[in-house]
Amino acid sequence: MSLAMTDSTPGVPLLDVNRDNAPHRDEFLDALTEVLDSGRFLFGPDVTELENEVAAYTQTPNAIGCASGSDALLLALMALDVKAGDEVIVPSFTFFASVSCITRLGAVPVFADICPDTYNIDPESIASLITEKTAAIIPVHLFGQCAQIDRICEIASKHDIPVVEDAAQAIGAAYKDRPAGNWGTAGCFSFYPTKNLGGMGDGGILTATDAGFADRLRLFAGHGMRPRYYHQVVGINSRLDTFQAAVLRVKLRHLDAAV
Ligand SMILES: Cc1ncc(COP(=O)(O)O)c(C=O)c1O
Repeated sequence: MSLAMTDSTPGVPLLDVNRDNAPHRDEFLDALTEVLDSGRFLFGPDVTELENEVAAYTQTPNAIGCASGSDALLLALMALDVKAGDEVIVPSFTFFASVSCITRLGAVPVFADICPDTYNIDPESIASLITEKTAAIIPVHLFGQCAQIDRICEIASKHDIPVVEDAAQAIGAAYKDRPAGNWGTAGCFSFYPTKNLGGMGDGGILTATDAGFADRLRLFAGHGMRPRYYHQVVGINSRLDTFQAAVLRVKLRHLDAAV
């Protein structure tokens, strides 16, 4: 007898996204109708408002919407000028996107050990892997639990190496009362539907304390174009659309009550 699950096998779904969404159905419909009627499907006011609200929620001065958490990571490394031959330290246990952003730029992922009790990157392993080629460190706040980010930032700042927090799974999490995404040069969040703050499609956002770096992230997310049709750098096209932003604003209002 086969033990494989089939489509007709009754089973417990890993996650029922509708359980979270159903109570807010009317709020979603109102917000989506407003976007539909406005005709502003990109760069609508909901995108700016969501950016402001995520900035406030993470207590970080700047937030920049983008198309996914994967793009957020890639944009952070692009804006840091990570290039072929550079090394980027990343945990040996994480989702693929924490690493593909490195290899996509021709840089080399250097895998650090994880702590056996949290499965998050071990700061002392990071310290042992730093070389002259280390261009960034990407701690991942896995399963909504922050890595030991104070110690990681301490090690990084001693060597003047930027920290890019992969906070894709960790909006709302904090370490010693300081929110995820607020510690590093950039914080990268995902709005994939199963995430803590899940949209109704793909989406992501970056946080950054430094206004100049935030501006650079926005430049890279918009084809490096500034002003229109003049391209300062080779960026990518990574936008958070207004429908997603409208949905996410509704969900952000209910996020603290949902956890
Ligand atoms: C740790 C981690 N990093 C990055 C990502 C990428 O996010 P996205 O699916 O929005 O591209 C995810 C989620 O899928 C993730 O769990």
